[in-house]
Amino acid sequence: MRKLILELLRSNGLEPVSGEKISEQLGVSRTAIWKHIQALKDEGYQIESVQKRGYILREAPNRLYPQEINSHLETKWLGRSVCYEDCVGSTNNVAKSIANQGCENGLLVVAEEQGAGKGRLSRGWISPHAKGIWFSVVLKPPFLPQEASKCTLLAAVAVVKAVNKIQGVNAAIKWPNDILLNGRKLVGILTEMNAEFGHINYVVIGTGINTHGEPEDYPEDVRDIAISVADVATEPFTRVELLADILKNMEELYELACEQGFAPVLEEWRKYSCTLGQEVKVIAPDMTYYGTAIDIDEEGLLIVKKTDGELEKVVAGDVSIRPAAAQNNAYA
Ligand code: BTN
Repeated sequence: MRKLILELLRSNGLEPVSGEKISEQLGVSRTAIWKHIQALKDEGYQIESVQKRGYILREAPNRLYPQEINSHLETKWLGRSVCYEDCVGSTNNVAKSIANQGCENGLLVVAEEQGAGKGRLSRGWISPHAKGIWFSVVLKPPFLPQEASKCTLLAAVAVVKAVNKIQGVNAAIKWPNDILLNGRKLVGILTEMNAEFGHINYVVIGTGINTHGEPEDYPEDVRDIAISVADVATEPFTRVELLADILKNMEELYELACEQGFAPVLEEWRKYSCTLGQEVKVIAPDMTYYGTAIDIDEEGLLIVKKTDGELEKVVAGDVSIRPAAAQNNAYA
């Protein structure tokens, strides 16, 4: 009901919609409408009541409410079903537990805050309230389990394309799936999979985007390493519009991969990569070596030409890649 009231108000722009018209269109009493309007105001919607003329929606709250996402969404199936929480431990964990009970392809789990956000290599992910977009999607791809890691590359492309549409933002992908801006971490992606031999039951792609973080939101050791979209954007943007744009890109790339395989996605990935052509230090559990990142192969593995000229393929998950000259740090 509230979603329908918001749709009516939105479609009328700055012209008031009378309580009578809303109650006629939705088939409920004017008192019921008045109660819903109060509830929407409690959720943070700025709704003006103009005497004898009706209601105007002045401003939507800065929240990733399902009805807000829905009103910006241009996808066919991705994000059409949403689980929204104000605060959770980890959206990836919520997504996995819903998926374990059975859910459709494309479920979106989004939270304003994560108390125990998870990063790669068993690290944490700082997710302050309404200062970023912390979300997970459940996909049920027809790919083989060994191809699941390419979903992460796909997600990275979807995100970088969307953030770079905001004026002033010029982010790039650090292999395999970090998105950096001015050399600092803007986005992290953590993909988790549930599979059987030869069959993926589901993949959860969890993405964390720092949009409005401020230094005091981060512990000291992360402060100089993290960056937010708002630190560089030269035009206003909203989290909800950015999320809707990412989901649209993700759906398009996913359908492309289903139809044509991953080659076109990898081609896009190469365009946004800041790793290719770089001198890198590869820190694997059993060895550390230096070389130049020259390409990714059709599996998404990084091809590094070592200083002795030998080619090495690097598997994500096992290693840290750092610019050859960089210091160690926990977030890179
Ligand atoms: C990384 O280490 O770079 C990956 C970070 C992934 C963070 C996101 S935030 C939404 C989702 N839920 C989690 O617990 N983690 C991912």
